[in-house]
Amino acid sequence: MAKTLIFGGSFDPPHIEHVAMCRAAMRELDIDRLVVVPTYLPPHKSAGMLPIETRARLIEAAFEDLSPTVDLIEKERGGDNYSALVLPILKKKYGDIVYLIGGDSLQNLDSWYKPEEVLKICSIAVCGREGYDDINDTAKHVEQKYGGRIIPLAYKGGDISSSMLRARLLLGEEPDELPKSVLNIIDEEGLFEQYFPMIEKLKGYQTEELFEHSKAVVKRAVDFNGKHDLKQSFEKVFLAALLHDNAKQRPSLDGLYVPEAAIGTPVLHQFLGAEKARRDFGVADEDILNAIRYHTTAKADMTGLEKLIYTADSLSDDRMYAPIPELRRVAIDDFEEGFKATLKFTYDKLSSRGKGIYPLTVEAYEYYIVQGKK
Ligand SMILES: [Fe+2]
Ligand SMILES: [Fe+2]
Repeated sequence: MAKTLIFGGSFDPPHIEHVAMCRAAMRELDIDRLVVVPTYLPPHKSAGMLPIETRARLIEAAFEDLSPTVDLIEKERGGDNYSALVLPILKKKYGDIVYLIGGDSLQNLDSWYKPEEVLKICSIAVCGREGYDDINDTAKHVEQKYGGRIIPLAYKGGDISSSMLRARLLLGEEPDELPKSVLNIIDEEGLFEQYFPMIEKLKGYQTEELFEHSKAVVKRAVDFNGKHDLKQSFEKVFLAALLHDNAKQRPSLDGLYVPEAAIGTPVLHQFLGAEKARRDFGVADEDILNAIRYHTTAKADMTGLEKLIYTADSLSDDRMYAPIPELRRVAIDDFEEGFKATLKFTYDKLSSRGKGIYPLTVEAYEYYIVQGKK
């Protein structure tokens, strides 16, 4: 009987590594039919996500060489689309199925809804990633625990993040990690263009160098958020990072509120940036505004978004002077460590200069470094 490979994901957007994984699985397991299943979330949970019908068109284009069937079963069902609930239906529909997942999903199998049920329905093919732990041990461990069959693939995938691709598309870039056919549809349908007017406006307020820095902070923040699973809303991270320095090169107060002590100091632009993001860019979200408002000084008891923007700004990839690359490595490894090391470095640098340190920074230092709070 013909075997069918089932591959699920959000595909927002589908990229070359998705295609490479399927191609490898089909070749290694001698499978000739591919069914791609885009995840569906109800409208209140899917803000900012492309509609499933649009993602289906992108999937058709991305996987065109593999003649995929795109199955919208998750939308038809509407509700909880756990693998243990969806796979039995797909098995009825397509017969002999193999379910393809990434190595990180295998590692999280314990947190799945009824993993033992999933393994009763079909075999699971697993694709590891270049530079990550061998998946063979995990596969054996899972088989012993739940029964069923796990098939590790010889192919190792590359590390591509869909949220990073989204950020780059929103910034107007055309990432090589997307198949040409996908880029064409994105271009024709004007997808990922919602912030283009805002970006044009921002460019009018910044030198090219500062705009490049703003983009670098967006990417650094999106990378930290994904890599460390910080669970900050993608939209908020994107907007706060993009606009954090919107007032840096336009210091006029314009009657906006800023603390007296900040006037005439380098930290003025964080307070003014929050006010001008509201006035000139229509940002009403207080989380975003506060992340802009404290991005230079930091403060005690910060929100996750505030810490993220502060750290991403200090450690953005356009900063190549010592010790930033080293601090960046620390933060890429462990975000909290990186945040604290950055705060300590900044405080020590300011202290050694002997000029005054802005009170919020002193409070941040007391809170996070002296008292060691989280
Ligand atoms: Fe700044
Ligand atoms: Fe900055």
